This record gives sequence, structure tokens and C-alpha cells, in this order.
Amino acid sequence: MTKIPVWLDCDPGVDDAMALALLLKCPEYQLMGVSAVAGNVEEEKTFSNARNLMHFFGGTAPVYPGAKKPLFREPRTAYFVHGENGLGNVTLPESPQKVQTLPAPDAIYEAAKAADGELVLIAIGPLTNVALALMKHGSLGKLIKQIVLMGGSASYGNATPAAEANIFCDPEAASLVFQSGIPIVMCGLDMTLKAIMSPRELDAMAALNPTARFLRDAAQHGLAYSKAHGFDGMALHDPTAVLYPLYPQLFSGEEAGVAVETKGSVTYGKTVTDLYSDKQFPFKNALVMLDVNREGLIAVVMDILNRY
Ligand code: BDR
Ligand code: CA
Repeated sequence: MTKIPVWLDCDPGVDDAMALALLLKCPEYQLMGVSAVAGNVEEEKTFSNARNLMHFFGGTAPVYPGAKKPLFREPRTAYFVHGENGLGNVTLPESPQKVQTLPAPDAIYEAAKAADGELVLIAIGPLTNVALALMKHGSLGKLIKQIVLMGGSASYGNATPAAEANIFCDPEAASLVFQSGIPIVMCGLDMTLKAIMSPRELDAMAALNPTARFLRDAAQHGLAYSKAHGFDGMALHDPTAVLYPLYPQLFSGEEAGVAVETKGSVTYGKTVTDLYSDKQFPFKNALVMLDVNREGLIAVVMDILNRY
């Protein structure tokens, strides 16, 4: 089987943890590396979480440090969902794997060269590392086959009424990425807020094995937050971006022009999506996911996690 060379840029993050757990058990992928970025929690934590998760899940891909803050703005964390440590306050053993020091933008570039134009970049945190990589390495855009990102929304936001959290954290980076010319699949809230795993399904998942149990336990902190805010379950935001390339039939969407608002005082971070209007943008730069077969997705998640 020819494997798909893939890179994961992430900010673990409870749903990032599930995304990595799934990715590592998909034999269709060749994971070239993982990079951490400041997002749900500070980069010191996302980096050590990514390293510890890699070890806990039995993966061996190198994990690289990344941006400690957005391009121009102050970091903005989401402790209220992901807990103080970013993993729902569940602790993992320290990874004994070698600590990589190559910065994420260079590591991504090296992987893209090695993959010879075939690299699929899955980005499930703020897009700071990706933007820095594109700015530093002028030829990188041509070497990346596709970016599948979790972020944005054609409609409402979750960080603000207008903006989704990953884009809201670093709108300038997101704007640069959306204008890069690289084919983009946007797994945004229109779709991911339909990809809900219920508490009962999380418990069924936990019964599979210790890895799945860890993922269920880590989700409890965010579940309590979601419940207090009106919905009962965990949105599988980041896992959808990992699964889309392998299971596109589970998802539906439309090509559209997407521009990131960076100036508006109450709208910055909005992915202005030319989908419902009179389609005035003279470009279509993203495949915008709008719906998911929820039951099918949960079945795939269970099936893959059962490989642990
Ligand atoms: C996104 O923001 C983070 O909190 C999650 O990990 C996900 O990547 C959802 O808006
Ligand atoms: Ca994330």
C-alpha cells in the first residue's frame, strides 16, 4: 500500500489527543512528524502533551516545538474546556523519547521536501506554525498537496459569536494560510458541531481499552463545560480533520471563497465564507465541510480505537 505522508500540527488539547490516537492507528498514513503550537494551553504544555501522548499511544514519530504565541496577538488559552494541563487534568507519564529542538516551521519544510509534493498537512490548532513555515520557506506552498484544517465556520463562532477558536487565536496566520493557494479542506464548526459523541458513547468507547479509557477520562472536564452551555456531548472537532482524507464519504461540503476577517473589533477571526451570499468572491480557495454522517463517524472512531 502506498501510504499518505502526513504531518499533524496540533495544540493538545483533548480532541487533539483523540485525533492523534486515531491517526496513529490508520495504516494508510505515514506520519512524518507532529508539531505543537500555543492554543488550548501554552506551547510548553502542548509540546509536552504531544510528546507524552505520542509515547502513551505507542507512536514513534518525532514531535517538534512550535510557536509560543500568535503572529501579532497575545496567546489565548481554553483552560475552561481542556483543563489546566490541556488534557482534562488527566496526567500521563513523561515521554522518554528524545526532545526535538528543530522549530516546527523548519521541521514541516524538511518533511514536505522528503514527501516530494505529496505531504498532507493536518492542522488542528491555531495556524501560527503553518504561517511561519510558509513565510520562511518560499517554496513550501508548492510542496504541500493539501491542508486539512480544523477551524473556522461559514456561520456562527464558538470563541466569539463570529469566530471559531483556532482562527480567533491567530487570525493573521489563518488569513495567510487561506491566501496561500494550497488546496484547503476546512473542517469548521458547521460540520464539527454535528460530530458529537454522547456521554454514553464515550463510556462505550472507554470499555475498549486503556487508550480509549484515557480519552474518555480526559473529555470529562470539557463535557461538564459543554453541559453547562447547553449541549451534552463532546464535539469531535479535531478527529474529523484526521479522518476526512480517509473517509471523505462521511462528509459533505461545498467549494467556496473564504477570507479571514482580521480588523473588525467584534468580528475578527471570522472566516467569511462566500456560500450563502450571491457568491461575489472571485475565488474559491477551500472545500468547506458542512455536514457529517454522525453515526458513521462514531462507528469509524470506535473501529480505529479498537485497534489499540
Ligand atoms: C478547536 O479549538 C480547540 O479548542 C479544539 O482543540 C479544536 O481544535 C475547536 O474550535
Ligand atoms: Ca485543537
